Amino acid sequence: MDRFHQSPTDPAFVQDPYPAYAAARRRGSLHWWDAYAMPAAFDFATVDAVLRDRRFGRETPRELAEAPPAHLVPFYAIDDHSMLELEPPRHTRLRKLVLRAFTTRRIAALAPEIEALCHDLIDGFPEGAFDLLPAYCERLPVIVIARLLGVPEAMAPQLLAWSHAMVAMYQARRDRAAEESAAQAAGEFADFLRRHAEARRARPADDLISHLVAAEDAGDTLSTEELIATCVLLLNAGHEATVHTLGNGVKAILEHAAQDALAPDRVEGTVEEILRFDPPLHMFTRWAYEDAEIAGHRFARGDRIALLLGAANRDPARWHAPERFDPARPVRPNAAFGAGLHFCVGAPLARLELRIGLATLFARCPKLRLAAPPRYADLYHFHGLERLTVRR
Ligand code: HEM
Repeated sequence: MDRFHQSPTDPAFVQDPYPAYAAARRRGSLHWWDAYAMPAAFDFATVDAVLRDRRFGRETPRELAEAPPAHLVPFYAIDDHSMLELEPPRHTRLRKLVLRAFTTRRIAALAPEIEALCHDLIDGFPEGAFDLLPAYCERLPVIVIARLLGVPEAMAPQLLAWSHAMVAMYQARRDRAAEESAAQAAGEFADFLRRHAEARRARPADDLISHLVAAEDAGDTLSTEELIATCVLLLNAGHEATVHTLGNGVKAILEHAAQDALAPDRVEGTVEEILRFDPPLHMFTRWAYEDAEIAGHRFARGDRIALLLGAANRDPARWHAPERFDPARPVRPNAAFGAGLHFCVGAPLARLELRIGLATLFARCPKLRLAAPPRYADLYHFHGLERLTVRR
């Protein structure tokens, strides 16, 4: 197998990973990625097929699971109960409980509230040049997911801090200090949610935490650890990727002068093109559970594979001129939300926030423009901006 020599923290790669992906894809589907010590798939067909292939999954094979080092126990006390790290039957049970609360009707009913929140945030924009990420892109998704779960909105800055510390565990720049702060954040987050769930048990409200507590009380469908892990996952997954997509989307619209593409009859396709062109999550991995041949390579139980969503979305075998941002192109499903069993639970909510968030922003600020060249943050496999300085 060909090798892919590429540091995921190389500044040029962080700013623009797509040329390296394209060069690898031209040489073949699978390459051994030194930095992760596993084969990586770069084309859409392979990435999509492995995501849907039940011979592969996210949960560590039983015989390879190791006890975490002492300093990471609080982190894995949560992560081990997260549906994102599990396979059936536990995954099925946890996902079903969450899906019950995330019905299409319930999500669609949030539209007026999301729009009102966008207007409030825009009313608060300062004069002159300012960073749109903290002023808008972060606030919108974190407040929406906090409200859905029933966590006080005033907690938003604390939720952001805990979440940033925890997701650093999945980033290439992870080191001992990042691990310690992830473990501390996980412990504090779990304590907060345990107290909050108790309060909801005493006085239920119409929010997701109350529904999960009721499911827990109704039998052994959900343990307290699972309840906490589910809330942490929803709060973290519920904003990290949406923040980056809003930022990447504003950048793409401004750099391509594509404001017209946010008209009501076009915004849906434009959001899909943003998710295809510059997705916020570039890589997920899978374990092989049995022997399988993928793109000519034989995998045995316990082998791993990296699936490059960011590369799959630029595959010329699926999209004409994939390097071009073209909001008018016909929509074909892309890999940004994954596929198969772990397909993003929050996709309908994320799409709604992106459509309303982008359309409202540009309707209210038609002269919005970049005040400095945007730069991506060193967070691989996350792909989002460090700062987005604009003027209205
Ligand atoms: C643009 C925004 C978003 C993107 C690009 C995104 C992307 C993804 C991807 C790629 C996965 C699958 C990972 C894998 O297969 O290994 C995933 C899973 C998940 N996402 Fe999202 N996500 C977004 C927003 C959200 C939101 C708003 C929520 C919650 C409200 C959410 C909740 C989840 C959950 C709970 C899972 C785990 C599903 C499972 O394991 O069955 N995501 N997301």
